[in-house]
Amino acid sequence: MAILVTGGAGYIGSHTCVALLEAGYRVIIADNLCRGSAKAIKRIECITGKKPAFYCLDVTDAAAVDGLFAANKIDSVLHFAGFKAVGESVAKPLLYYYNNVVGTMVLAGACQKYGVQHFVYSSSATVYGPNKVPFREDMLLLPAANPYGETKAISERILTDAAKANKGWSVVLLRYFNPLGAHESGLLGEDPAGVPSNLMPYITQVAAGKRERLYIFGGDYNTPDGTGVRDYIHVMDLAAGHVRALEKTKSSPGVHIYNLGSGVGYSVLELVRTFEQVTGIAIPYEITGRRPGDIDICYADPGKAYRELGWKAGKTLAEMCRDAWRWQQANPEGYATAE
Ligand code: WQD
Repeated sequence: MAILVTGGAGYIGSHTCVALLEAGYRVIIADNLCRGSAKAIKRIECITGKKPAFYCLDVTDAAAVDGLFAANKIDSVLHFAGFKAVGESVAKPLLYYYNNVVGTMVLAGACQKYGVQHFVYSSSATVYGPNKVPFREDMLLLPAANPYGETKAISERILTDAAKANKGWSVVLLRYFNPLGAHESGLLGEDPAGVPSNLMPYITQVAAGKRERLYIFGGDYNTPDGTGVRDYIHVMDLAAGHVRALEKTKSSPGVHIYNLGSGVGYSVLELVRTFEQVTGIAIPYEITGRRPGDIDICYADPGKAYRELGWKAGKTLAEMCRDAWRWQQANPEGYATAE
């Protein structure tokens, strides 16, 4: 029996494949490689000494997904494949709704047809919108400020209803906070195309001299130093959370929602200072206007994941900075860097 990992060539998916293979699971990756990289799959093998099966397919392609389910004995699905750039989702909402929502529906449909009862979904803290921190799983979700967040909330709804209608299904919805860092080998990491929209890849590119300075979006938030506060979590902690979530699906039918965050908020400036301390490199920055759609503070109440999954984030902000920087140095052009 195998675990199907959609988006396994992407940032969080690839790190989770390492954790799954190291835990002894057999892994099948499905990825259309439009944002992920085939090199990430080779490197998963390099790190673990185990070769995941790979299907180059689009999860919105129902016939291709059906073929995959028909040809393999799939035990569980971990669904990472999706677009995740908030700004791009505002510019191209139809692309986001189609890709993220239809992909979820096609996979859930295949699970129903082939009797696959275990599903772990990559959701996001974005679904909380401007709720009061710390965010708890039982809060009423507020409309997200962007289509990306809506695609996550809608996919959660679809999977929840599907689980109610299919006896024996177990669906775990994981709401990620802000993933950072890279595998400690420096072989896997985040490889954004073009100008990074997320904070850490932008910082590492400034440190590498690829960009002149960091623009900090807003210095007038209602936070201790005026810059935005987020709950940063090491991508390998996140990967470990998926292994726990998968185990949960084996023992508990129904729908289970967990925050995967550290429970601690750091400001943009605190992250910049930590990066500077860890690497010894100064990060020039300029405080500019707020980015549309950003909230001031976002951090998790991670207690439920600890109580029910026995999971909590263990790695520090300094480790996230160290590993992100190691990845950037070893792969200045991401996976396009020549061997
Ligand atoms: C972090 C902080 C910015 C870039 C998004 C998604 C979320 C999740 C993670 C998952 C904020 C500030 C950023 C820059 C800056 N996605 N910033 N200058 O927006 O919290 O979360 O990514 O799949 O769902 O919404 O992450 O890294 O973009 O920003 O000052 O160049 O850094 O304003 O306070 P965000 P981020």
